[in-house]
Amino acid sequence: MSDPLYRDYERLVEITIMGKAFKVPEKNTVLRVFQYVSPETIPYGRFCWNQECQLCKIGCRTPGQPDARPRQVLACKLIVADGLEISELSDELKWTLAGILKPAEPRPPYE
Ligand code: FES
Repeated sequence: MSDPLYRDYERLVEITIMGKAFKVPEKNTVLRVFQYVSPETIPYGRFCWNQECQLCKIGCRTPGQPDARPRQVLACKLIVADGLEISELSDELKWTLAGILKPAEPRPPYE
């Protein structure tokens, strides 16, 4: 698929962010796929997008290492992989992704 914001991709891969599952475009950086799932808020983060500010740090496990400790990496550097589990987010990422990560409100009962 072609969208100037994303590197060309043919399919979506499944990742989890803080335990929630998302389908995101393969061949893109993790920070870019955060923008895919939250296009309204990621552009407001103070991200440099070029591995200098360190505001995009995440802790993650790559597929095939389910028991390993989360690895600290930069979301603007790491290319997303099917099965990636992201379990730690920098404060800037928590703030920009808050809307998609908060638990769903229970539906109010009929009165
Ligand atoms: S966005 Fe600045 S280091 Fe990743």
